[in-house]
Amino acid sequence: KKVVLAYSGGLDTSIIIPWLKENYGYEVIAMAADLGQGEELEPLNEKAINTGATKIYIEDVKEEFVTEFIWPTLKAGAVYEGKYLLGTSFARPLIAKRLVEIARKEGAEAIAHGATGKGNDQVRFELTVKALAPDLKIVAPWREWDIRSREDAIDYAQARNIPVPVKKDRPYSMDRNLWHLSHEGADLESPWNEPQNDLFMICTPPEQAPDKPEYVEIEFEKGIPVKLNGEALGPVEMIEKLNAIAAAHGVGICDMVENRLVGMKSRGVYETPAGTVLYAAHRELEYLCLDRATMHYKEMVALRYAELVYDGVWYHPLRKAIDAFVDVTQETVTGLVRMKLFKGSVTPAGAKSPYSLYNEEFSTFGRDEVYNQKDAEGFINLFGLPMKVRALMEQKSGLK
Ligand code: ARG
Ligand code: SIN
Repeated sequence: KKVVLAYSGGLDTSIIIPWLKENYGYEVIAMAADLGQGEELEPLNEKAINTGATKIYIEDVKEEFVTEFIWPTLKAGAVYEGKYLLGTSFARPLIAKRLVEIARKEGAEAIAHGATGKGNDQVRFELTVKALAPDLKIVAPWREWDIRSREDAIDYAQARNIPVPVKKDRPYSMDRNLWHLSHEGADLESPWNEPQNDLFMICTPPEQAPDKPEYVEIEFEKGIPVKLNGEALGPVEMIEKLNAIAAAHGVGICDMVENRLVGMKSRGVYETPAGTVLYAAHRELEYLCLDRATMHYKEMVALRYAELVYDGVWYHPLRKAIDAFVDVTQETVTGLVRMKLFKGSVTPAGAKSPYSLYNEEFSTFGRDEVYNQKDAEGFINLFGLPMKVRALMEQKSGLK
């Protein structure tokens, strides 16, 4: 009997290996996904085997992550609760999808993950497995064992001769990939505590950023960023390069209290430098290229899309349906946007598109040929008719 485990090499997922063998009699196949977390994954090979796994897959899923998960979410303009750019949320379905693929290849009967029973991640992993492989069993050790603290975990590891990763002094629960880095827990648990500058691992603290602004030019094709400062870049490179530029200016820090799907609020600090610039730039282009009705409708859809992604319902027909809608809106979201980065802020500094609906001749306060100001009177009369009818009724009935 085999199980495929989402493995990171950290203490938690390390002790899960012997735990699965002891408690389920499983042969453990480990899977580590390279989502651009910037860590050497090669050493995990030896580590997983030394910890008792029979095999490990190290999967580079960076490109798929960007093109299949990040770009659709960016195009939708999905932001959770007005702030969170969903960096962990959309990585989970991808990891789970790969777990399922490996489980099939290996003939495994279950998948296992190291997410706790109090968080969103367990939901995201498991909903994906249910959607893609309803027959697979799911094992979530955190919901079963009585390990409660890092100390418990270390004791468990030492009793089994499992090398304990050198203790990092970071007390936070973190999740990193190409798109973002999240920090939760420890002093951040009080929303009154400001994140300290040494918390940031990607972004320069804004007050230490350069005193001179820097401009970046991003070219979009149908809602997807394709060039940075005139240079055509692949999806992964685009985010890597823009991350470096934006992070140096302290752009991309988000500090929020969010509503977890599982009921409680939690406080998180996120670093999403490229993402923050791309969302802002993409929106600037939409201001030029989308008509009013489509834009307003898309805003509602974006809200729903963010919930779907956050809730881990990625593999749901509604998400696909919304993608289809969004793709139609993006047909004309092509053009160039210039953004100014300065001490943590990102400000629009120019946009143009061959499909722009903005027409200087129509919008001008000067004389023009298409807009007859006299037409406005009739428009207002009819547009305001229901309000007038209501007011007349109120007068007559004495309601007011
Ligand atoms: N609160 C964020 C989310 O739900 C980040 C979760 C980070 N996960 C982690 N295992 N550290 O998407
Ligand atoms: C976890 O509980 O494993 C991390 C936090 C989350 O999933 O929301």
